[in-house]
Amino acid sequence: DWTMGAYREEAIRLIREQVGDKQVICGLSGGVDSSVAAALLHEAVGDQLTCVFVDHGLLRQNEAEEVVTMFRDHMNLHVIHAEEQELFLGELEGVSDPETKRKIIGKLFIDVFQKYANGIDGAEFLAQGTLYPDVIESVSFSGGPSVTIKSHHNVGGLPEKMGLKLVEPLRELFKDEVRVLGAELGLPPSFIGRHPFPGPGLAIRCPGEITRAKLDILRKADAVYIDQIRKHGLYDDIWQAFVAILPVRTVGVMGDGRTYDYACALRAVTSVDGMTADYYPFSHDFLGETATRIINEVPGINRVTYDITSKPPGTIEWE
Ligand code: XMP
Repeated sequence: DWTMGAYREEAIRLIREQVGDKQVICGLSGGVDSSVAAALLHEAVGDQLTCVFVDHGLLRQNEAEEVVTMFRDHMNLHVIHAEEQELFLGELEGVSDPETKRKIIGKLFIDVFQKYANGIDGAEFLAQGTLYPDVIESVSFSGGPSVTIKSHHNVGGLPEKMGLKLVEPLRELFKDEVRVLGAELGLPPSFIGRHPFPGPGLAIRCPGEITRAKLDILRKADAVYIDQIRKHGLYDDIWQAFVAILPVRTVGVMGDGRTYDYACALRAVTSVDGMTADYYPFSHDFLGETATRIINEVPGINRVTYDITSKPPGTIEWE
């Protein structure tokens, strides 16, 4: 007779047993997983928890403020807002290979954590919101030989040199279960219902070179797209929706003039656990209206496409 209430009690007991009276740091990524992990940890060890919210400059519009405000002001967690945009974007300059991007971001995360962990007396543990599908997918591709599809930055063992032990209280859960647990822990429904957001953030939605200019365009287009989805009441029917900015500019015409701006792709999928996914069957009216809004409201984009690839053979993210 398994319930999330019982899981929560057991998870809290195990965390207390593992952590004792030591300090824990937890990386808040802005996603649902790390948020639920932080809330669970906070309930288990209270003030022994310090969250580090790494602002890598690859977040969505208003994301940093929303996350920091919620955890600091509404949930009373100790949150350090690590403003490391310069560091991340600097190291990513000129890099276009997807795995190289992921490795750079993963490594910098560890560096940044180490820096903040060193500032916390007695920090011995690092908590992460790793889910069951993360564990599986980074190990093997079902049925086939052991192949790494993408190196998830939140999985795969922190280097020994970091000297922190790992706490992963969500390791046995799927996404839908994490949401139920989040509700149990009192996170607001609007927050729990948010679409998943990957640790490497907008970096993997910006194929090719990442520049500040492209990220700004991407953030604006993504905000318009999500606004459209909410206005049409579709947000909760969709597992994940986002814009990817393509590494190509195309010719268009606006008013009397020729434009030469970026193309973008809209992505929206349904899924149960992120392991497989189908593209979402938007109406043509919705797609047309959204394309018009993005082109009118987002300088720098003059062409909008819709990605109709399922997973497999595609992945949800573009990189
Ligand atoms: P893919 O693109 O592999 O994504 O089909 C499956 C799900 O995982 C998310 N994703 C990540 N989440 N760190 C994360 O925390 C990562 O490195 C990462 N890469 C992909 C993706 O957004 C989708 O929900």
